[in-house]
Amino acid sequence: MKFKLLASTMAAAVLGIGAIAGVSAIAAPSPATVSVPEKADNFQLTDHTRLAHELHYFRDSKAIVIMSQVNGTAASRAAAAELEKLQATYKDKGVLFYMLNSAGTRDAAAAEAKAQGYDIPILMDELQLVGESLGVQREGEIFVVTPLDGFRIAYHGPLAADGKAYAADAIAAITSGKPVANARVEVKSGAAISFPERGKATEHAKISYSGEIAPLLQAKCVTCHQKGGIAPFAMDSYDVVKTFAPMIRESVRAERMPPYFPDPHIGTFQNDQSMTAEQTRTLIHWIEAGAPRGTGEDILKTQAGEAPEWPTYLGKPDVIVELPSFDVPASGLVEYQNQRVDNPFKEDTWLRAISIKPGDRTVLHHVISNHVPDPKLPRAKIPGGSVGSYTPGAEAQIIAQDAGAPVPGGGKLNFQMHYTTTGKAATDKTQVGFYTLKAPPKFIKRSTVIGDFGFKIPAGAARHKEVAYQTFPADAYLYTLYPHAHYRGFHVELKSVTPDGKETMLLSLPKYDFNWQRDYDPIEPILITKGTKLVATWVWDNSTNNRANPDPTRDVTWGEQTPDEMMYFRVNYRWADETVDNVRNDLQQQLMASLSIGMIDDNYDNLIQEGELKGMMASLKPRFKALDLDGAMLRPFLFRPIKRRQAFAPPVRGVALLNL
Ligand code: HEC
Repeated sequence: MKFKLLASTMAAAVLGIGAIAGVSAIAAPSPATVSVPEKADNFQLTDHTRLAHELHYFRDSKAIVIMSQVNGTAASRAAAAELEKLQATYKDKGVLFYMLNSAGTRDAAAAEAKAQGYDIPILMDELQLVGESLGVQREGEIFVVTPLDGFRIAYHGPLAADGKAYAADAIAAITSGKPVANARVEVKSGAAISFPERGKATEHAKISYSGEIAPLLQAKCVTCHQKGGIAPFAMDSYDVVKTFAPMIRESVRAERMPPYFPDPHIGTFQNDQSMTAEQTRTLIHWIEAGAPRGTGEDILKTQAGEAPEWPTYLGKPDVIVELPSFDVPASGLVEYQNQRVDNPFKEDTWLRAISIKPGDRTVLHHVISNHVPDPKLPRAKIPGGSVGSYTPGAEAQIIAQDAGAPVPGGGKLNFQMHYTTTGKAATDKTQVGFYTLKAPPKFIKRSTVIGDFGFKIPAGAARHKEVAYQTFPADAYLYTLYPHAHYRGFHVELKSVTPDGKETMLLSLPKYDFNWQRDYDPIEPILITKGTKLVATWVWDNSTNNRANPDPTRDVTWGEQTPDEMMYFRVNYRWADETVDNVRNDLQQQLMASLSIGMIDDNYDNLIQEGELKGMMASLKPRFKALDLDGAMLRPFLFRPIKRRQAFAPPVRGVALLNL
């Protein structure tokens, strides 16, 4: 059964909202009818702090309360204050609270939240798809969703009206297992929020499958969703798309598909697989209008192909190395396997790209590689490094133009293979495709890993945060950003902070997905000036909400196996002043020296405060005064690593690791 609400013709009793986009001071044109559905369909939205929230993630909550909100109005502010009070009462009773903003910008919402001191996340419904489908009409509307009941909307209406605290009563009833007395109450006040696409089902039914939808799916989905591709079904005809349409709607609304997760407001990256806001809206509206076939050619059918063996944009590799096959058992933890093969390159070689083709994607979790020099040969002037890596969802690695990854001739190539068991025995036989440069490049691709080995994520912690950085001792150009954590990784960001404090966000994944790890290569290499810090922030979810969590009852520390965690952010770059004829290994050493303070100094002020000794470092707290060489706070051991590192004697595992 659907509930119909008549849009009220009462003028909204709010002030000063004329200038706000999407909000009109008068009610929506009557007699428009808007229906509030019986259930809330799944969605994921990013909040004003850039963290993602997926409705179905919180399947164990007793209730999820969502209130429509607009920025800058007295009514929204008053309602938010009431909602904060409800949150204070119910947050420890399995109730989650959100505001839903379908009419403003994220920057404005962040400013509003700061000014008003909001604790409740404001979900940014930038495409308006969530507000449209919930049937939002005005600010201050409350939707109480009950996950245990199939995400039913157990209450819709105002916070309070006619002297009755409808929303509070509904929440009280739900949390004490009683029926909600008034499940639908008309919302009569508050500014109307305009949803221009609502009520346009007739227009949406005219969206052309042949002219718009099929080309869109072909551009954004078919690389994986084709015969021989990595996705479970091939989108090779209208019939398939029509059959999967409800699932496509769900996966797009929940931001699982297409699997490309950077915050669209931050950075621009090569090989961006995302849909634009307009494309997403078109696809969803077409599905909601019944996914009509219309007329015209079905290019998904007439142009259906098969996934190529190697990426189309690279073609066949110059050299292919076959790694020995490995039998992965059905269960248990498998030690890292080191597959060491002869280096196929007898002369010093430069790579322009590497593509790793897993033998069995279901069991291969990662590949990390390096060149192992032949001790009998003279030392290479430019040492070799990684010759490629793979994690789930990875694409081929392409080295930026004018640069190359060096592989000294001779010796061995070592591939560290990490296998995860799936309940079914499997055999993996992975191939590595190398694409070489025919002449030496100008620049050398370098990399470093920003991380912290000393963290501890408490059992059950829902949002545990850690910060780490490195300070660049000279100008450099950033080529690649690659974050990595395990099953509990929830959110990650990288920003640059110049010595004068200017912060620039470089990459943000509102929701990190362990199954999709890839390199993010900025369209143009980003200049990082001397003295700038690259600061990585990681958030983990060690709670039961996280379905992938191997054990929420455990404190989790750094470890190589997937039940442990990592805080790992690799960046590839080149030193601005370095060329193949002017090798600057010294800069690399200076950069590494900044790693140890970067692990501890959470507020990146170049000092270590006592409170920053946490996780594994907490054991140093009782000795803080003794270690405090300056009589105030520990000064940075930036670029002066040896002396200060000695202050941190080895009982601390993380520091011991750094001394390697
Ligand atoms: C980079 C490869 C890739 C691209 C691009 C891609 N998919 Fe997928 N898709 C997958 C894989 C792999 C799965 C299997 C589930 C998983 O591993 O997450 C999947 C699963 C799905 C499912 C099954 C339900 C689910 O969410 O798991 C749907 C529906 C889907 N994709 C729709 C799409 C649509 C629509 C697009 C384009 C807008 C798209 N996919 C683009 C790889 C891809």
